[in-house]
Amino acid sequence: MHDDTDFTGKAVLVVGGSSGIGNGIAQAFRQRGADVHVWGTRKTAADYDGVSGSDLSGVGYSCVNVGDPDAIASAPEPFAEGRMDVLILCQGTVEYQRREFEQEGWDRVMAVNLDSLMHCSRRFRPALEASAGSITIVSSLSGYRANKGNPAYAASKAGAINTTVSEDGTRNAAPYSFFNAVGDEPPMVVLGLLKDPATGGMKNTASNIAATGEFVVNLVCEADAEKMNMTSIDAPADLDELEYANIETLPSTAVTPERIASSPVSFECRSLEMLEIGPRQTIVIGEILVTHIKDEFILDPDKVYLDTPAMKLIGRVHGSGWYARGTDLFKMDRPKPLPKD
Ligand SMILES: Cc1cc2nc3c(=O)[nH]c(=O)nc-3n(C[C@H](O)[C@H](O)[C@H](O)COP(=O)(O)O)c2cc1C
Repeated sequence: MHDDTDFTGKAVLVVGGSSGIGNGIAQAFRQRGADVHVWGTRKTAADYDGVSGSDLSGVGYSCVNVGDPDAIASAPEPFAEGRMDVLILCQGTVEYQRREFEQEGWDRVMAVNLDSLMHCSRRFRPALEASAGSITIVSSLSGYRANKGNPAYAASKAGAINTTVSEDGTRNAAPYSFFNAVGDEPPMVVLGLLKDPATGGMKNTASNIAATGEFVVNLVCEADAEKMNMTSIDAPADLDELEYANIETLPSTAVTPERIASSPVSFECRSLEMLEIGPRQTIVIGEILVTHIKDEFILDPDKVYLDTPAMKLIGRVHGSGWYARGTDLFKMDRPKPLPKD
């Protein structure tokens, strides 16, 4: 087995995986330990024997014409108990001799290259949601530069690129009080992420971190308390809580998720480890790649002395709905070290 990425025990369906790039993807997952199933257009796997660029050894196979939405809906489950971790959508067709300029040719190409992406995604969304799995759409450079003579192919591949971007680009924000700094070489944080009590699956924050490996921790000041509270709304993954709570953002420098503009301190983080520490909880250990501190709170930039009280940070204490200000500070000196001998 290749040891660069281990997919042992993961269930991977490759639509359009009978030959070409899709078949390469299917075999690459199999070599990395995954259970792989392929959808293709010929009746049986044996019908691909001897076809150049096709190797169906060690993978499951079903004949599904994805140009037909009913065939997608009624195709047998590729894995037992409706399991699925990765869905690769690699299907594609093209028509030559100007047939894509005719209505029927255009429709056939659109049905396979574009419509079926949504039909397949819709069919397997519940299974992927349950496993916090992912969908990858394989498109083509033709999505950027139209092929002469193939308008449907180019338009459908451009649509495929856009479908992927919009799906990945949904922003998410939520308060997490189970958060701490746990090291400085390199600087690290941990987050305690509970499972969604309604579904038993990951909350959106956890599934986004699992999928992208990136997140931003924004410390909350008192002026932002109401907005912070609004982002804790239990909402579907496609709600942009930043827009919902009218929170302004700024671009991050090292990660894709944006940071909150009014936050006194933001940490751009990369996830190092996600640990399942119980049936209802996950720990994320993140490395801080970049720290942003608002200029007004920096007392001495060389020594990195900060005016933390001026940040008016708040924290969650006591119980649900209760918060503390940092205005009741007291100071204690540490005991002198004991002599070594
Ligand atoms: C102040 C505050 C602190 C919270 N801290 C946590 C926490 O540490 N861990 C957690 O799993 N949920 C915590 N929650 C609940 C989540 O914010 C809430 O479940 C939210 O809907 C999750 O959103 P998401 O699915 O977009 O990640 C907290 C809520 C509030 C209001």
